[in-house]
Amino acid sequence: MTRIGIDLGTTNTLCSYWPPGAKRPQLIPIPQPIGPKEKVDSLKLLPSAVYVESEQTVFAGRWVKLDSRTASEQKPYFLSMKKRMGTTYVREVNGLTITPEWVAACLLQVVRKSAENYLGKAIDEVVITVPASFSTEQRAATLEAAKLAGLPRSGLKLVDEPTAALCHALNEQGHELLSEGQHKQYIMMIDIGGGTFDVSIVQVIRNAEETLDITLLGCSRYNEMAGDDFDLYIAAFLLNRMEQQRGFDYSELTHNEAADLAAVTLYRAEEAKQKLSKLARESVSSPLRYNRDLMEKIQVPVEISAMGPLEAENYRDQLTVKDLGLALKRFLPDLLNRHKNREDKLYSYTIAKPIEEAMESVRQSSEAFAVFDYMDLHEVLLTGGSAHIPLLEMAINQIVARPPRTLTDTMESVALGASVFGAWVAGEHGELVHLHERINDSVFLQLPDGRFEEVLSKNNVIPLKNYPCPTRSLKIGGEGIYKQVELRLFLGQSAQDPFMAPMTTSHILTFPEPIPSGTPINIHCSVGPDRCFHFTFTARLAEGSEIKAKAKVVQDRTAQGLAHLPQVNLTRL
Ligand SMILES: Nc1ncnc2c1ncn2[C@@H]1O[C@H](COP(=O)(O)OP(=O)(O)OP(=O)(O)O)[C@@H](O)[C@H]1O
Ligand SMILES: [Mg+2]
Repeated sequence: MTRIGIDLGTTNTLCSYWPPGAKRPQLIPIPQPIGPKEKVDSLKLLPSAVYVESEQTVFAGRWVKLDSRTASEQKPYFLSMKKRMGTTYVREVNGLTITPEWVAACLLQVVRKSAENYLGKAIDEVVITVPASFSTEQRAATLEAAKLAGLPRSGLKLVDEPTAALCHALNEQGHELLSEGQHKQYIMMIDIGGGTFDVSIVQVIRNAEETLDITLLGCSRYNEMAGDDFDLYIAAFLLNRMEQQRGFDYSELTHNEAADLAAVTLYRAEEAKQKLSKLARESVSSPLRYNRDLMEKIQVPVEISAMGPLEAENYRDQLTVKDLGLALKRFLPDLLNRHKNREDKLYSYTIAKPIEEAMESVRQSSEAFAVFDYMDLHEVLLTGGSAHIPLLEMAINQIVARPPRTLTDTMESVALGASVFGAWVAGEHGELVHLHERINDSVFLQLPDGRFEEVLSKNNVIPLKNYPCPTRSLKIGGEGIYKQVELRLFLGQSAQDPFMAPMTTSHILTFPEPIPSGTPINIHCSVGPDRCFHFTFTARLAEGSEIKAKAKVVQDRTAQGLAHLPQVNLTRL
C-alpha cells in the first residue's frame, strides 16, 4: 500500500509520504521550472500557480508565480484558484475552458507524477487536505480535481487542514502538548495560510490505557482573511503612499500599465511582509512583547518599478512593522472596546470573527458545551505560512487570552499531518489514537408531503472507523402501495433550513415486494471502514415479515463527496 498526503494550498502545494519503519512522514520533492523554461529543480513547495500555454503545454510552480508578478506581459496565469473551487468560475484560454478544478488538477497531476517517480511505484491511497470551513461544493470540486488528475478514486480521502496539522503536532510532540494529569483537553488549532483563516477546536481525551480519543468539536466558516488578502491591503497601503509622495494620478495609466503596477506592487508587498515578519521575530526575544520604538525601527526597503510613468525611475520606500500594522488594521480587532465592538459588524470582519465562529459552533453542538469559553481551552496552536506574522500572534493572544504556540514547521505541518492522519485511520503507526468527527450538516429524507425527516443528526460525533449511528423509524404516509423508494437525501442545518441542499444524483431503492402505505420503515445507518454511510431501510409488514433495502452513501469528508449522495424521494407503485 503506497499512501501519500497532499496539502493542496491556496498559495503552496506540498506532498508527504510516511516511509515504512520511519518515526515520521517526510516531504516528497517536487520538480518544477524555477527559471526560464528549461531550468527545473526539485523543491518542497510547489507554488499553486499555473500558466496555460496550450492544451499540451501547461506550466506550474515557482517560475510561473515569479513570472506572473514580474513579467511585463499579462499572460493566462492562474493563482489562488482554490478560493474559486466549487463556484461557476470559467475562463476561456486558447480554446480551452479553464475551471478552478482543472487548475487544481494540473497541480495534483504534477504532485502525483513527482510522487510516482520519487517512490518508484503507483500511488494506491491519497489523503488531500481542505479547509475545515470548506462547503460541500468545495469538497466535491476538490474530489473532482483529484479524479481529473488521475489519482486513485477508491483510495481517496479528504481531511480538514487543522485536523491534519494537529495529527502532525501530536505525532511530533504529543507528550509536550498534552498537560500531564489532564484527562480531557480542548485544543484550538488555527491555520492561517494564503487563502483562509481556518479555526478548529478539538477535544483530546487521554484514556487510562494511554490511548487518545480526538474529536473535532467545531470550526469556523469559510472566509478570505489570509496571506493573499494581507498582500492586497499592504499593496494598497504602498500605492496610497506613493500617490501622496509622488503626486501620481493612477487614472492616467493605461489598462496594461495599471495591471502591471498592481502585479509588481503585490509581489513587493508579499516580499516585504515576509522579510518584516522574519526580522521582527529575530529582533525580539518574544514577538509578543515588542514595543512601539522597535516597531518603527524594524523596516525593510521596498522598490517598485513598473511599466509607464514608473519605468524611468524606480519608486523606493521603507516599510516598518508599524506600517504593516496600519496596512493590516482592518483585520485586527480593537480589543480595548471588545464588548462594544462584539455587536459591531466591523469587529466581526476582523480575525476575531473566525475564532468566535469556531467557539460558537462548539457551544451550539450540545447542551454540555453551552457555556464553552476561551478559559476552557488548554492550548492554542498556530500553523500556516501567515502564522509567521507577529502582529497576528499578538492579536490572537489578546482574543483568546493566552499566548498561542506557533508550530515550528508552519509551512509543512498540514502536508505531513495528511500522512499521519492516513496512517492513523488505517491503524498504522499509531494504533493508540482514535479519531472522531462531528457531522456538520444533518442528513434529511424528504417525505411525499414535502416534509423533511432528519435521518442523521448534524451533531453526531462519529469515529472515523466502522460505527453504528442512531437508528430512526418513520412511516410512509399517503395512499397506495410502494415498491420503489427513490432515495433523495438533503443536507442542512435544520428541517426549516432555507439553504437545504438537495443532492444531484437520485438513487432508486427497490424493495423486492410492494409495501402498503403507513408501513413503518426503520432506518439504520453505520459508517463503514470506507467511511461511507451505509443505510439499511427495513419495512416491517403487518404479518411480521420484513423487507430490506440497502443504500451506500458517501460521507462528505471522503471519497466522492456529498454532491454524489443519493437523494430520497418516494414514488408510488
Ligand atoms: N515569513 C513569513 N511571514 C509572513 N507571511 C509569510 C511568511 N512565509 C510565508 N508567508 C505567507 O504565508 C502564505 C502561504 O502560507 P501557506 O503555504 O500555509 O498557505 P496555503 O496552505 O497555500 O493556503 P491555505 O491553507 O489558505 O489554502 C502566503 O500568503 C505567504 O506570503
Ligand atoms: Mg494551508
